[in-house]
Amino acid sequence: MGFEKTLSILKPDATERNVTGEINAMLESAGFRIIAQKKIRITLKQAEKFYGIHEGKPFFDDLCVFLSSDSIVVQVLEKENAIMDYRKIMGATNPAIAEEGTIRQKFARSIDQNTVHGSDSAETADTEIRFFFSDMEILG
Ligand code: CMP
Repeated sequence: MGFEKTLSILKPDATERNVTGEINAMLESAGFRIIAQKKIRITLKQAEKFYGIHEGKPFFDDLCVFLSSDSIVVQVLEKENAIMDYRKIMGATNPAIAEEGTIRQKFARSIDQNTVHGSDSAETADTEIRFFFSDMEILG
């Protein structure tokens, strides 16, 4: 395990409803440190590049349109076992089956508008962090 970094995105359904502060409070209470964070809006092309691994899947187009539809908050979270612990606190991808107390159970509207994204492995976390942040933007 040890200390890890993971990439988190608070998606357009979170920024639109003004709940990014509430989500950050949940994360900080759970022991995550937000060591980089910015609110940005990305283009459809950038969303397609970020979610490239899902290209060809039936939900790909809607997913990329949604992620580029409004502002998002991208952040680097640090904690012991951050990658798996963040996946736990996010809850299941489909909020209909997300556990009580998770971010998606509390906020997500649907599998498409599911409020948050988190990296799924150490390798993905590294690639995803570099996609959005330069070294200078991440607290050491
Ligand atoms: P996320 O963790 O950001 O990664 C890919 C996203 O695709 C996922 O959250 C969902 O919002 C969206 N998605 C829509 N349908 C599906 C599906 N059937 N399986 C996985 N992800 C899906």
